Amino acid sequence: MKLLSRSPAETESVGYNVGKLLTAGTIVKLYGNLGAGKTTMVRGIARAFGIPCESVVSPSFTIITEYESSPRFLHIDLYRIRGSSDLESTGFWDVIGNDAVAIVEWPEHAGDELPDDAVVIRIEHLSEDEREISIEGIDEKNWHNL
Ligand SMILES: Nc1ncnc2c1ncn2[C@@H]1O[C@H](COP(=O)(O)OP(=O)(O)OP(=O)(O)O)[C@@H](O)[C@H]1O
Ligand SMILES: [Mg+2]
Repeated sequence: MKLLSRSPAETESVGYNVGKLLTAGTIVKLYGNLGAGKTTMVRGIARAFGIPCESVVSPSFTIITEYESSPRFLHIDLYRIRGSSDLESTGFWDVIGNDAVAIVEWPEHAGDELPDDAVVIRIEHLSEDEREISIEGIDEKNWHNL
């Protein structure tokens, strides 16, 4: 599905709606250029798991941030990663699991290592405040604008 967002708040609420449909064990590949709104989207997804959105910051330096929730919530930023050996050294494969939801910014930096069955979200910068958001891999018939 494709949606138009006109503000950071709208992108966050799209994230919240996505989050409500995610189940444990899901990996979300979140594509978009610098400043597209990926972390803004993650704030909304995190809120769906009861994580205060103010606590969600870009994990560019830490690479993986785990939030206490059920399922476990992982915010992963692969911006500084190059390829599969680099990915392995982050501990990615140790930390993901069937009891965790993992949201991955810059998934393209992992080469083609990430699972194909992931939910895929793409954010495209249209203008200063407008973004086109495309979402694949969720069950659209369960979608609600919450
Ligand atoms: N419709 C919109 N949706 C999301 N962000 C928007 C929108 N309009 C403007 N913005 C602004 O764009 C910026 C998005 O920043 P954000 O950190 O979420 O992007 P990012 O994709 O995670 O960037 P990076 O690649 O640097 O991690 C924020 O400054 C936000 O206020
Ligand atoms: Mg970011």
